[in-house]
Amino acid sequence: MGGMPHFVHPRLLIGNETNDDAGVFLLTDELALIQTVDFFTPMVDDPYLFGAIAAANALSDIYAMGGIPLTALNIAAFPVCEDKSLFARVLQGGADKVREAGAILLGGHTITDEEPKYGLAVTGTAHPSQIIANANAAEGDLLFLTKPLGVGIITTALKAGALKEAEIMPVLLSMAALNDIAARVMVKCGVNGGTDVTGFGLLGHVYELAAASSLAAELWMKLIPFHPGAEELARQEIVPGGAYRNLQYMQNKVRFADQIAEYQRLLLADPQTSGGLLMSVPKPLAGHVEGELENAGVDYAIIGKMRTGYGIDVLPA
Ligand code: CO
Ligand code: CO
Repeated sequence: MGGMPHFVHPRLLIGNETNDDAGVFLLTDELALIQTVDFFTPMVDDPYLFGAIAAANALSDIYAMGGIPLTALNIAAFPVCEDKSLFARVLQGGADKVREAGAILLGGHTITDEEPKYGLAVTGTAHPSQIIANANAAEGDLLFLTKPLGVGIITTALKAGALKEAEIMPVLLSMAALNDIAARVMVKCGVNGGTDVTGFGLLGHVYELAAASSLAAELWMKLIPFHPGAEELARQEIVPGGAYRNLQYMQNKVRFADQIAEYQRLLLADPQTSGGLLMSVPKPLAGHVEGELENAGVDYAIIGKMRTGYGIDVLPA
């Protein structure tokens, strides 16, 4: 978060300098506290689904750090005039997702606002040695991604009326899916680094991982998974403003091979909501991680690798 004042404390393990998913504070030698907050405006009409997606998204930042969520607080804004039962459905969707994560809701706070907003502040824990940060990726690591991309583009088409919610239910369910199992594999196998792919798009989050680790990354376009329809929509320039802004922000940090078309560049910059985990896996461990993900029924793709240098190179394959 730009402009945020900087704190230094002997027990502060991860603050805001490395753009990590959550802050980490050492409670005891055996226990680290992980805290995060996220909330946003609806991207779907179904209030229950919106609540579930917003909660899964907020919980994901605990998983991305290698933690287990324990407690959550609702953060909500809702218009005065709106039907109260809609709001109850949002909260129910969020609460069911918190329960699915094995955590509990302690309460929360709601204000009135013209535009509805919902999300969670989540507290989790991990053993300090199992925290998975951005900063420890190593040269030669393979990059694993556990959810397909393109949800920003697809929900933009939904808002524009080019798609119906029922048509994209698999995409919405992917957004509502917890990253809990993928995170368990990540911790069990002891990967070097990890994050989740959210608002800055794949390019932005790969860059954060690489920059925090003083490395560069290479992405292999052909191997990057997208939800069905996303590539076609991007070709038709049905793309959210955030993708253009992300791409603009990355312009001096990414080098695209000539074969990578403009629509593909936008796909890589598409802001994700509740995206998958991005893991930096030591090459000798990759086969083990693949086996564990397959056994756990988690879809994944190996989309690139870390190497020395600065920024990101996007290659055709
Ligand atoms: Co995150
Ligand atoms: Co976040």
